[in-house]
Amino acid sequence: MPVRLDVDQLRVHAHPFTGAPGMVGGLLRHLQSLRQIRDDRGWISELLDEAENERMHLMTFVQIAQPTRLERYVIMFTQAVFYNFYFFLYLLAPRTAHRVVGYFEEEAVASYTQYLEEIDAGRHENVAAPRVAIDYWGLPDSATLRDVILAVRADKAGRRDRNHCFADTLKQGGWPKGLSHTVSAEGS
Ligand SMILES: [Fe+2]
Repeated sequence: MPVRLDVDQLRVHAHPFTGAPGMVGGLLRHLQSLRQIRDDRGWISELLDEAENERMHLMTFVQIAQPTRLERYVIMFTQAVFYNFYFFLYLLAPRTAHRVVGYFEEEAVASYTQYLEEIDAGRHENVAAPRVAIDYWGLPDSATLRDVILAVRADKAGRRDRNHCFADTLKQGGWPKGLSHTVSAEGS
């Protein structure tokens, strides 16, 4: 069985994990809001949107690179481990949990910038954008992989800023404040 480690395959492998933090954070914030009978100031919907957005990244990249059956088993196992790790991290240290995601997203923005450079240099084929991506991001029918990567990188840049903002807010103590942060749509 060939070992495939191309960039598209790695995207498929990464997203079963990157889709977990938003759902975990949203779940725990939801329970906290119910428990303390206090408004969440928009945090829950932001976090659940993150999870949905990452899931759509996976639905997009799986159209470009299909994992093998063995890879699917590995993904299932490691997702279970990561989900539980992140759940307890968020439960015990939510500020750190958001900061970790912020740093991951910083790296992701840089890696998508490299991806674009690979496409622009002709080292990675600029295939047609999958239909699921065209529909999700409202791209034109003529959109290509490059357009998809630009959209994904903008998502990542927003999530980077948002999670650092969440961490900063928690560092100040008290209940989450409103989402008054600014989110840049460009990559770094
Ligand atoms: Fe993603």
